[in-house]
Parts: sequence; C-alpha cells; structure tokens
Amino acid sequence: MEEEHTQPSDAGGALATTARGSLTVTDNRTGETYEVEVVDGTVRAMDFRQMKVSEDDFGLLTYDPAFTNTASCRSAITYIDGEAGVLEHRGYPIEQLCDQSTYLEVAYLLVHGELPNQDALDYWTYAITHHTYVHENIKNSMEGFRYDAHPMAMLLSTVGALSSFYPGAKNLDDETERYMAVVRLIAKMPTLAAFAYRHNLGLPYVYPDNDLSYPGNFLSMFYKMTEVSYEPDPRLERALDVLWILHADHEQNCSTAAVRAVGSSQVDPYSAVAAGVAALYGPLHGGANEAVLGMLDRIQTVDNIPDFLQGVKDRKERLMGFGHRVYKNYDPRARIIKKHVDEVLDATGVQNPKLEIAQELEKRALDDEYFTERKLYPNVDFYSGLIYEALNIPADMFTVMFAIPRTAGWLAQWLEMLGDPETKIARPRQIYTGDRELDYVPMDQR
Ligand code: ACO
Repeated sequence: MEEEHTQPSDAGGALATTARGSLTVTDNRTGETYEVEVVDGTVRAMDFRQMKVSEDDFGLLTYDPAFTNTASCRSAITYIDGEAGVLEHRGYPIEQLCDQSTYLEVAYLLVHGELPNQDALDYWTYAITHHTYVHENIKNSMEGFRYDAHPMAMLLSTVGALSSFYPGAKNLDDETERYMAVVRLIAKMPTLAAFAYRHNLGLPYVYPDNDLSYPGNFLSMFYKMTEVSYEPDPRLERALDVLWILHADHEQNCSTAAVRAVGSSQVDPYSAVAAGVAALYGPLHGGANEAVLGMLDRIQTVDNIPDFLQGVKDRKERLMGFGHRVYKNYDPRARIIKKHVDEVLDATGVQNPKLEIAQELEKRALDDEYFTERKLYPNVDFYSGLIYEALNIPADMFTVMFAIPRTAGWLAQWLEMLGDPETKIARPRQIYTGDRELDYVPMDQR
C-alpha cells in the first residue's frame, strides 16, 4: 500500500487527506488480483464486492460486528486521537472550550460549525431560553408514570412523544423545521430531565426560569422549593456547564451511531434523538458512572482495593470507569473532570469517602502492568458520578444528566448526516448462520 503520510494507529478514526494510494489485493481463492483505492486512510467496503469465486457469488463482504474498524460516515464535528488523548470540537481543543466557553456556545459551535459572534450567541441563547417550556400534556403524561419509574425511561418516552407535538418536524427538507427541532430539543431536554427527577421525589414540577443561565435554570428546576426565585451557586452552575461541555459530543459512539442509523430512515429528529437516549441508557455507555459508584460502594474501604483489583485480573469484576474503545490513554475529559471534583465538594460541603477510594484505585491501577499493558486509563465516567453525587443527584439520574448535553452532539451529527450526499438508509449485511429450506412441521408432530 502506498501512503503519503501515516496516522496514529489508534486514532478515533481516519483523518481526511492523511493517506492516499491503493491496495493490491490477491484473492488466493481464485488467483485474481484487484486494485482497491485508498482515500483518507480508508478503503471502501463495496470495492470488495467485486471479489467473487464464481459468477453467481454475491461477492466478498467485510465483517465488523461492533464497527471497531469501520468508518460509517465522513464528519467535520469532533476529532479524537485516542492514542494521544486529544479531543477537539470543530477543531477547538476541549481544554480551551472548558476553560473559556459555555455549554450553549459549544452547542452552537457543534451545530453551526463555527463559534458565534456576540449577536449570534445572543440570538441562540434567546431562542433556547424561550423554548424550554413543554406542552402541559407532556407534563401530564409524565405524571402517569409510576412513582419509582427510572427517569431515563421517562426521558426516552417523552423525547419520543415530542414528535407527536411537532408533526412539522418530519418535513426534513424544511430548514426552519430543522432549526426549530434543534432549538426545541436542546431547550426542552433539561426541563424533561428535571420533571423526571421531581416525579421520583413526589415533588411538584418547577417551570423554567428565563432569567437564569442554561445550567442555572436546570439547578432551579431541580432544587427550587418555596423560594420566590432560585439563585444558583455560581460554582455549581459553572461545574455543571463544564460537565455538559465535556459530554456535548464524542463522534461516532454508540448513541450517536444510533441517532444516525435511525435518522437515516428520514424519521423526524425527536424520534431519532429518542434512539440516542435509548442507546445511552445502557451500562456500557452512559450508565458507566452509575456502575462506578456501585463499584466504589462494594469496595467499601481503601484496604479492600488490592483484593478488588485481583478480582478484576481474575475476570470476576470489571474496573468500571476504566478503558475506552477509542482512548488508549488518559481520557482528556477525565483529567478536566478530576479538577472540578474538589471544587464541587467545596461548594456543597459534601465529604465523600468514595473520592479517596477512587483516587487510590486510580493510582494503583495506573501502577499495575495488567492495566497499563492493556492501555486501560480512567474515562470520563470515573469521576463524573462523584460530582453528581456531591450535587445530590441520584444515580438513576446520571444517564439523564448525560443525555442533556449530548443532545447538541446528536443533533449536529443528525444535521450533518442529512446534508451528506452519501447518506442512505443504514442497512448492514449479515453472515447467515441458521438453517435453510426446512419443511414446516405441524404442531402435533413437534
Ligand atoms: N476492566 C477490566 N478489564 C478491562 C476493562 C475494564 N474496565 N476494559 C477493558 N478491559 C480489558 C478486556 O478484558 C480486554 O482484556 P484481554 O485482551 O485480556 O481480553 C482488554 O482490556 C481490551 O478490552 P476490550 O473489551 O476489547 O475493549 P473495548 O474497546 O471493547 O471496551 C469498554 C471498551 C466497553 C469501554 C470497556 O473498556 C469497559 O467495559 N469499560 C468499563 C465500562 C465503562 O467505563 N464504560 C464507559 C465508557 S466511556 C462512555 O461511554 C462515555
């Protein structure tokens, strides 16, 4: 294979323009030789279809069960170099965005592709702030859930239900409809999340407050009790904003792939985003920080860490919050979150013994060949649960807290998918392993 440049072996994906050339493939089944083009460090799976053993052969397929080595799209939204621990949105490093930007500005950046000027940011902020209310029937439908309904199940169904309130959203060619769906989803997600939380506590839902910032309004809908107006602690407001910047997008992860795959059927964006919420619900994706707290609870004391780590090596346990499909280095988001843990604990006055266990666990795992050999480092979820716990947010709500900011990423990816001339309905192939051409057996003969 000829290459102009090489790229890191474990980058998040192929980097456009890094490698060009061709691949000469000899099919040893037939002795035939083929030239396969290499563009942007990738080969097209369809180019392998021409490789056949006979005229009626379907052609060669590529097999990649979890898409571990398959680029499913071209994207200009998020760049990850997993080997180097780099994360950039639209080219801007995550560290700079967390230091200098806000979640709403990052949402704009993801969706529009560039940083807004002041007027554009003001307009965007105004639009989102003024679409935070949900239809009273959505509120009523949430009241129908059992008192102990998982808030993520409530979010999943209400996001899907929004589709019935905005039927115009199915007109995907209508730019205004597309824009309004983006604004509405980013605006309403915190409202739905806070309503789900209040529902579990049996507390009245708190309506949005337009005088507050995006994270400040969320804190108000979450914590407000009898006060006339809620004043969020600026340290908590900022910590939440940074957490949301960190979770805003992460290229082709499980939930984003779900949004793109479902969205490729040209369903409305509320339904496509509901698919993302469903994917995020799973413990190997958005549910990992809840599992981290469960793990820290089980470890109980620092003294039990060696036994626990032995259990991981014996494959009886999994070190939750460690390891990542793409990062084979410290997840840059984990580094930023770690800085904010102390700040939040200071602001809330919460002493959490789990923090000491987590820090010691991290130290020991990073000193242990078993983990370093496998390039297992803390991921974003290792510390985020501790922040949420300090904010008195119950573990059930963690995935919901993740879904709020990821909505901007899902929508940016959904818009990009719609505008991509190569987009087709997602429809993978399979290797069929079942029986064939059996004769139906009547019930009395089985
Ligand atoms: N604890 C112990 N061993 C692990 C862990 C872990 N957390 N993660 C991976 N390994 C081991 C595997 O057993 C495997 O070892 P082996 O080669 O000896 O069999 C090796 O490391 C490679 O692991 P894979 O499973 O191939 O890695 P994969 O990329 O498929 O998995 C995943 C990534 C799912 C995130 C995994 O690391 C994991 O389960 N981590 C814990 C859950 C977690 O924290 N998820 C949050 C991810 S971040 C997010 O979604 C926002």
